[in-house]
Amino acid sequence: MTKYSIPSALDSIPKSGIRRLFDLAQGMEGAINLGIGEPDFDTPPHIVRASIKALEKGKTSYSPNAGLLDLRKAVSKKMKKQNNVDVSENEIMITVGGGEALSLAIQSLIKTGDSVLVPSPAFVAYVPTIILSGGKPIEVECLEDENFILNADALEEKITENTELLILNSPTNPTGAVIDKKDLEKISDIVIEYNLKVISDEVYENLIYDGKKHTSIASLNGMAKNVITVNSFSKTYSMTGWRVGYLSSKDEVLFDRMLKLHMYGPVCNNTFAQFGALEALNGPQEFVKNMRDEFENRKNLLFKRVKKMENVSAINPKGAFYLFMNISQTKMGSEEFSEKLLKAEKVVTVPGSAFGQYSDDYVRLAYPLKKEKIDEACDRLERFLSKS
Ligand SMILES: Cc1ncc(COP(=O)(O)O)c(C=O)c1O
Repeated sequence: MTKYSIPSALDSIPKSGIRRLFDLAQGMEGAINLGIGEPDFDTPPHIVRASIKALEKGKTSYSPNAGLLDLRKAVSKKMKKQNNVDVSENEIMITVGGGEALSLAIQSLIKTGDSVLVPSPAFVAYVPTIILSGGKPIEVECLEDENFILNADALEEKITENTELLILNSPTNPTGAVIDKKDLEKISDIVIEYNLKVISDEVYENLIYDGKKHTSIASLNGMAKNVITVNSFSKTYSMTGWRVGYLSSKDEVLFDRMLKLHMYGPVCNNTFAQFGALEALNGPQEFVKNMRDEFENRKNLLFKRVKKMENVSAINPKGAFYLFMNISQTKMGSEEFSEKLLKAEKVVTVPGSAFGQYSDDYVRLAYPLKKEKIDEACDRLERFLSKS
């Protein structure tokens, strides 16, 4: 196996495939962007006001490294109530988005050469972060025929004596898959049998449709100690630019390692942003429901339109705000498809190849856009498909 130092590992990984298409689209008048991975809503005003008030009251110094105590207490309460996960404020750390939480967890968990199982298609950050931490990413294919849900047998087949960690993400970016409790139980049996650690990335937990329910794997029998739960205010409260996320772990040694990485890096999260996050959890929650309802309507519209298109197909996504469209019948690779579509019809999509080795037959369509824009993008997509 190649042994990487960090600079050479950095040279070996490409920049995110999402950015490339965005760069190509830059300055293109009239382009419609189905590539965006963030809600198109303003952060609710009561959250903004709480943060402004904190600044005006002089809350401008460092917070404790692990985050404001009140915020950690509010997260603990939320996790008990919403996720059925029993973690105290001392087992919670406030991070710079879910992104930092993921890197802290991966860096603190694996030794050079350890294998990390990544259900694939996967969020773009997992594989590079594993490589930068000296680990070996092993992608486990999640089949469209199985609704892109991780199959426990396929997972078990990829386990070797070097396997240390599994990264789970439900609802899933880029497929919109939601792993239900029954399937999570099968996965957790394997985790316990092989004594693996799990990072459970739950940043889309509140964006679930068609009556599906979110289950946190840390709430299942025997899993509490094995799981690091990663979450964020970014998607639930439309706070992507605030950069507030959190993680929880009941493993004291691991928690200390992650805290050291955090205290010698960002030190703590922005104090005034944490006051906004506190208000997000303690304040009214109507925004979360209304945004979810709106996304469900948009998802239904996009799915209905894609279903009628020639030479492409999709399964009905159950969560997040992405639809993973199968383009295999067009006989184009995903990068070729996305580039040609952009040039011909000024519609930005993300090629499946950005999400791992099994995804070149797909492109990701994100729908944080007004319905009229989604309709217009679909008209353009139809025109493109009828000509290609
Ligand atoms: C699956 C997944 N996890 C984590 C993140 C990180 O989000 P943030 O750092 O804004 O909390 C994202 C962002 O797109 C994501 O899609």
